[in-house]
Formats: sequence, structure tokens, C-alpha cells
Amino acid sequence: MSKPLEELRDLLARTSGASRKALLTRLHELITSEETAEETATRIALYPLQTSVAKIGQDLKIFETLTKSGPKSLEELRILTKAHPTTLGRLLRYMVSVGLVHQAGTNQFESNNQCRNLAAPEASTILKHFFENGEPLFREIPAFLRNNEYQDVTDGNATVFQYTFKTKMGVYEWFSLHPEHGAAFFRYLALEQAVRRRWFDEYPIQRDTRSWDPEMPVFVDVGGNVGHYCALFKSKFPEVPGRVILQDLPSTIEHALQTTGVETMGHNFFEQQHIKGSKYYHLGWILHNWSDEKAKQILHQIKLAMTEESVLLINDRILPDSEVPASAASMDLVMLSACGGRERTMEEWNDLLSSVGLLVKECIPYDPEQCHGIISAVLG
Ligand SMILES: C[S@@+](CC[C@H](N)C(=O)[O-])C[C@H]1O[C@@H](n2cnc3c(N)ncnc32)[C@H](O)[C@@H]1O
Repeated sequence: MSKPLEELRDLLARTSGASRKALLTRLHELITSEETAEETATRIALYPLQTSVAKIGQDLKIFETLTKSGPKSLEELRILTKAHPTTLGRLLRYMVSVGLVHQAGTNQFESNNQCRNLAAPEASTILKHFFENGEPLFREIPAFLRNNEYQDVTDGNATVFQYTFKTKMGVYEWFSLHPEHGAAFFRYLALEQAVRRRWFDEYPIQRDTRSWDPEMPVFVDVGGNVGHYCALFKSKFPEVPGRVILQDLPSTIEHALQTTGVETMGHNFFEQQHIKGSKYYHLGWILHNWSDEKAKQILHQIKLAMTEESVLLINDRILPDSEVPASAASMDLVMLSACGGRERTMEEWNDLLSSVGLLVKECIPYDPEQCHGIISAVLG
């Protein structure tokens, strides 16, 4: 490696957080700024192949084997994977060509950084979810939008999802009837929640609940999936008084985690909120699934249950007005295609909340790289 490249690698290794992300973005821009037309087109056109081969590498545990057991020959990998040596050799040749594994010699393979990354359990969760549930949609976005004359997409029952999976159902109903897809999504959510749990460190839950009535609900996680946040609330704040309640559709509640001190409740958030006067109503990654019209209906039901002391906590992305990171801009289009939803800027959040008579009290961006933030709102 030449000296300037070595210096660049050292710089990357020394940089972390937002600066590292910015540096990676600039480097990517630098590389693409020098590409020819053919290089740009080929890179973009062939990327789905890389996704598929990475999925095969995970299915055959090639990344895991090379990472955990060290270098392997083609013959050793053939015995472990039971794949035909010709097919396996062709797959490995491709993996080497795009840097997913390193070739140490003729028919000899070893791990590199990408291989080690793809061997991680979270990489398998992410890839499985997007491969099973996202990639089929991505393929159909162009045809769907063309047929739709590129109009605004707001109907979660008539978006790319229904077009792709040939169904009339919304995504969550469909997941409940297609458990393999649903399980891939739930595992991805649990992983994401583990990352987004950081908001608990930022928001002053303990300070604001010191004199809370233990008989009253303190934390209602509306659409809380199987209850990771409720479990975390109980373990992180065992001394906080009050009831902790997990709400989600009955088909999801069936799979809820069993956590001591957490009540579970089947609930449709478009219908009346029966838990009145809770200190906190938490909506984590809910409103981005829905159009403004639907989001208002959800907010309205919660607002009717709130008292002067209640706080609505919206845990969602808050997009900057410009230079939105690719991860957040991508999720916006995932929302469009999966459920007719959208990610929102702060101005859009303000408009949405004020339209139902709620007032933004505070906004805490707890993960600026991913644009994640907590918006607290009270009765207006
Ligand atoms: C994107 S997940 C968010 C889960 C969790 N709150 C989080 O922060 O990761 C959306 C959740 O909304 C639930 N959901 C969808 N439609 C619902 C409805 N009408 N009433 C209640 N929950 C619903 C789904 O089952 C799912 O668990």
C-alpha cells in the first residue's frame, strides 16, 4: 500500500463517531467523482448481485467459518458447506472480486474486514430482513411509481408492498400471516431497539416521576412490539413507581416477552386508548409508518387519554432540512414502499403535532448520525 493510502487508513482508524461517518462519505464522493460513466452504471446495476451473494455467504456460514476457524481451502469449505465445488468456487471467486473475503493463494481463502463484519450475528439479522422483506419491494418501486404517475404515496393498503406481494393486506397483518417474514422483521426491530435504547439515558424519566402515584400507569408503550422497551424500562428504572404497559396488536402480543411487572394488552391504536392519564405514552417508530392523516388519528386517540401531567414521547427520526444521511433517506423510501409512511423533519413534526392540539415541549436528538430523536409533547 502506498504511503498516502496508509496515512488515510490510519486516519480512518483514529477517527470515530460523526467525524468518521463524514470522512467515509467524503472518501466515497472522492472515488465516485473519478468514475467513468460505465463504472458508475456497472457498480449500481450489479449491486443487487452483491447483496444476494452476501446472503449466500451467510447461509453457507462461509464468513463465520473463515472468521472463527481461520483460513480454509476450497476443499475444506466444500466439505463444510456440502456445496458443489464448481458452484462454490464460482461464488468464492465473486466474493473475492468484490472484497467480501480475501484470497490467500490458489483455492485458499481467509477473512478480511468485510468478511468479519458479515460474520457478526447482527449482520445476518439486518441482511435477512432486508433481503426477505425489503429487496422484493425495491425491485418494484420504479414500476409502482410509474403506474402511479409519481404521485404522493400515502395509502398503506395500496403501496409498493401490496403490488409486490400480491395482497390487499397492510404490512403488519401480512406479517402476522407470514411468520417467517414477520420473524425476520421482529429480529431486526429488536436489534434496532438495542441501538435506539440510548434515549433512556438522555430523557429525565427518574427526575420527572419521583412523586408519581404507584397506582397510576407511568409508561405505556403503544405499538411496543414484543416489549423490549418495557423490559428495559423496568430493569433500568426499578424504583420508578407506576404501571408499565405494553400495547400492540393481539397477533404481536401473543409473542410478547414475559417481563415481571409489565402488563400486556392487545390494542389497536386507531381505537380508543383505554389507559388514561399515564405519565408517558411512548410511540417508538410508529408514526413513520403512517401518512399524516393516519398519524393524526393515532395521536388523537392518545391525546384523549392524556392529562395535564401526561407526556407523549415520540421516538422517531427527525430529518435535517438538507444533507440527510443515506441511512435515514433510505428508511424514508422504505416507509414509502412498505406502508405509505414517511420520515419527517422537525417542521413537519411540529405541524403534525399542533394539528391535533399537542405542543412540542422538547426535542432530544440522541443519535444524530441516524437522525434518531425523542420529541416530547404535552396537551396544548
Ligand atoms: C415499526 S414497529 C415499532 C415497534 C417498537 N415500537 C419500536 O420502537 O421498535 C411498529 C409496531 O406497530 C404495531 N402496529 C401496527 N399496527 C398497529 C395497530 N393498528 N395498533 C397497534 N399496534 C400496531 C406493529 O405490530 C409493530 O409492533
